[in-house]
Amino acid sequence: METFSLKTKVISGPGAIEALGRLGCRRVLLVADPYFQKTDVPDKLVSATGADFAFFYEVKPDPTVELAAKGTALVQDFKPDTVVALGGGSAMDCAKAMVYFSGQTIRFVAIPSTSGSGSEVTDFAILTHDGVKHPLVDEALTPDVAILDGNLLNALPKTLIADAGYDIVAHAVESFVATGAGAISRSLAKDAFSCAFTMLPASFAGQTSVRQSVHNAATMAGIAFSQSGLGLCHALSHALGGQFHVPHGRLNAILLPAVVEANCAANAQYAELARGAGLGGSVDTLAVRNLRNALLQLRKELRLPQTLSQAGIEPRQVQEKADTIVKAALEDPCCATNPVRPTAPTVQKILRQVM
Ligand SMILES: NC(=O)c1ccc[n+]([C@@H]2O[C@H](COP(=O)([O-])OP(=O)(O)OC[C@H]3O[C@@H](n4cnc5c(N)ncnc54)[C@H](O)[C@@H]3O)[C@@H](O)[C@H]2O)c1
Ligand SMILES: [Fe+2]
Repeated sequence: METFSLKTKVISGPGAIEALGRLGCRRVLLVADPYFQKTDVPDKLVSATGADFAFFYEVKPDPTVELAAKGTALVQDFKPDTVVALGGGSAMDCAKAMVYFSGQTIRFVAIPSTSGSGSEVTDFAILTHDGVKHPLVDEALTPDVAILDGNLLNALPKTLIADAGYDIVAHAVESFVATGAGAISRSLAKDAFSCAFTMLPASFAGQTSVRQSVHNAATMAGIAFSQSGLGLCHALSHALGGQFHVPHGRLNAILLPAVVEANCAANAQYAELARGAGLGGSVDTLAVRNLRNALLQLRKELRLPQTLSQAGIEPRQVQEKADTIVKAALEDPCCATNPVRPTAPTVQKILRQVM
């Protein structure tokens, strides 16, 4: 039996931010990535709605509990009817936590400006505290509206296309094999994987015409993993990200091929994904090999690092914190839906492999 819940209204297409004007907002708190302070997008949102606005531009990558608490005070003070989050996963997660902790009922509109996290449709918000990334998971965190406007993506830096793009791939692969997956979530995960896999290299090369499709794929993968859960790649990525502040998608790129190898008990599901995405493979082991090769090839094409050391984390730093990292990974909620129950030796082995 599969339970699939739908909440977020998704409005997608170039110029879609204009749709904010049709939601009847009167008092809006805009929580935006500082990048947008130098653009005309906030002004466009103000003129589309004609509402009273307050602005919170203090979001930093991997938002902390303290930052969310500071923003919560602004929510309680300003009393908006709508919070609009404009930015990447960090801005959306920070804004979600601000509304959640305020205890108020406020419409939440997410406008992603990167194609990756899927936070615009998920019931997750990831906050960092004392060097550990904690996924907060609650249905109340699911946005009411997601606006996917490809026009926001024309100036995306290459590194951001690659980092966030590999996050889509990791969401799709992990959600396809997660213990909570069902026919509907798998279908979304498979299409998101195929789209990201085929279009990311073109987007990375500067072809802006494919970016709306990649943006939609990020949301589809987000819907899929919100239903099914994720796995060990994300659990370890959260544990390492909290310690070393390497971009989340970049860590996933380093970890995912090794996690697919470690989860060999789930080969039948990985093979189904590989065949569904047109990667072929007459028997499961061949199909999984094709999938792993495709993941390695994509990582190379997007010029992402292959090891933690190439990402600037020295093996000595990992060894010193290995116990903390392994413990945090095993306690991360994403571990619970990994297709194989991970053990400490498995996680240690993956860490050694990717160092
Ligand atoms: N809530 C969820 O479901 C979920 C899922 C996966 C990841 N995450 C979280 O999302 C975060 C990663 O999100 P992300 O990959 O979107 O990156 P991000 O939000 O951390 O942003 C990365 C950088 O990109 C800049 N940026 C954002 N949009 C831009 C644009 N259009 N042009 C130029 N620069 C821009 C930001 O200023 C920032 O410096 C991590 O903290 C991760 O844990 C959340
Ligand atoms: Fe992710």
